[in-house]
Amino acid sequence: MSNVLIVYGSTTGNTEGVANDIADLLKQGGKNVTVLNASEAKAQGLCAGRDCVLFGCSTWGYDAVELQDDFASLFEAFDAIGASGVKAAVFGCGDSGYPHFCGAVDAIAQKLEELGAQLMADSLKIDGDPAEAGDDIKAWAKNIMAAV
Ligand SMILES: Cc1cc2nc3c(=O)[nH]c(=O)nc-3n(C[C@H](O)[C@H](O)[C@H](O)COP(=O)(O)O)c2cc1C
Repeated sequence: MSNVLIVYGSTTGNTEGVANDIADLLKQGGKNVTVLNASEAKAQGLCAGRDCVLFGCSTWGYDAVELQDDFASLFEAFDAIGASGVKAAVFGCGDSGYPHFCGAVDAIAQKLEELGAQLMADSLKIDGDPAEAGDDIKAWAKNIMAAV
């Protein structure tokens, strides 16, 4: 059975909810899924033993892109996660009213590419209330399922 890790950083619970929705969908599809809050994640060897790692992070800041606080701490040590050759994808919540819509998602995807990860799908960027993005979340999870 494919072994999927979902690591998320979320301040008000939006990205956390999406992480759990994605986990439920993947579990329904027969995947073995672990969900981990970035506040509890250790960078060293994070991707070891996983068939696929999904990273979720909301975006903060205004003039400059700021990753959600817990994820930002993990991101400082991202070189140590062992991403080379690992299947990965990124999702996150944001608000298109800000100049850098979901900038954190783009920053994480770019870093993963630099580290040699294999990005499996376009990033999932949710604008506003994730409760209204159920169809997008389902479609994205379906893509991930097919690629793992
Ligand atoms: C002070 C502040 C700054 C924000 N900056 C951005 C931003 O630069 N880009 C963006 O897409 N969303 C921005 N947002 C919107 C949040 O990312 C959005 O509310 C998101 O759903 C929070 O997700 P979370 O609950 O998982 O942390 C900002 C929100 C606040 C309150």
